[in-house]
Amino acid sequence: MTDKILLPEHIGIIMDGNGRWAKKRGLPRNMGHKKGAEVFEDISKYCKELGIKWLTVYAFSTENWRRPKEEVDGVMNLMRSYLKNMKKAANEHIAVRFIGDKTPFDEDLLRLMEEAENADVGEVITTVQIALNYGGRDEIVHAVKEIVNDIKAGKLSSEDISEESISARLYSGTPEADLIIRPSGEERLSNFLIWESAYSEFVFMDVLWPDFTRKDLDKAIEEYSRRNRRFGGL
Ligand code: IPE
Ligand code: IPE
Ligand code: MG
Repeated sequence: MTDKILLPEHIGIIMDGNGRWAKKRGLPRNMGHKKGAEVFEDISKYCKELGIKWLTVYAFSTENWRRPKEEVDGVMNLMRSYLKNMKKAANEHIAVRFIGDKTPFDEDLLRLMEEAENADVGEVITTVQIALNYGGRDEIVHAVKEIVNDIKAGKLSSEDISEESISARLYSGTPEADLIIRPSGEERLSNFLIWESAYSEFVFMDVLWPDFTRKDLDKAIEEYSRRNRRFGGL
C-alpha cells in the first residue's frame, strides 16, 4: 500500500462465503469454516502490522442457530481450538474481546473466552472483537433493557436517554465502524453492527472469505481512502 492512504480506525468484516468455498471443492461446509478461521488469524496479524486500532469480525450471528446442529457444533468447536491454540508470541499486541449474547454458551467455552480476554498481550496495538452469537438488533434490545434497569434503580433518569447513553450500553466498546467489508458477493449487513454502521463506508467484494488475502484488505482500505465522508455536512 502507498503511504498516502488514510487508515480506518475501526474495520468490521463479515466473514462470509465459507460454505460456498467448501462446496466448490466438494468438501464438507465445516472445512470452509476451518480455512476461514486461518484467514481470520492472518488478517488479525496484518491489521496489527498496519496499526489498525479496532477490528470487529462477524463469526456467528444470532440467526446462525437456524443451521444444522452439526454445522453449529463445528463452528463452536473451531472457536474452542482457536482459543486453545492461540500462540502467545503470534498474538502479542492483539487484545481479544467477544461481543454478543454469551448466555447460551457452554461453561468450557465461556472459560476459554474469558482467558483470551484476560491474556497478557503487552502493549495493545489492535483490539479484535469477535462477534459470536451477535445480532445488531439483539445488541440494541440488550442496551434498552439496561437503560430500563438503570432507571428503575435510580441510576439514570428518562431525560438522560440519548444516543450517547445507548452507545455506552452496547456490547461493543469501540468507536463506530469506519469501514465495513463483506466478501462473498452478498451485499447486505445481515444484522451486523446496525447501530455502529450509521456512517460506515461499505466495501463489498466478490472473493469468498477463505480466499481473502492481505492484498484484498489493502484493496478495501484503498477504496475507503478514496471515499469522501461527509457525515451529513458539506
Ligand atoms: C460464514 O460463511 C460463516 C458463518 C456464518 C458461520 P457461510 O457459512 O455463511 O458461507 P456461505 O455464505 O454459506 O458460503
Ligand atoms: C452473516 O452471514 C453471518 C456471519 C458471517 C457470521 P450469513 O451467511 O449468516 O448471512 P446471510 O444468511 O447470507 O444473510
Ligand atoms: Mg453466508
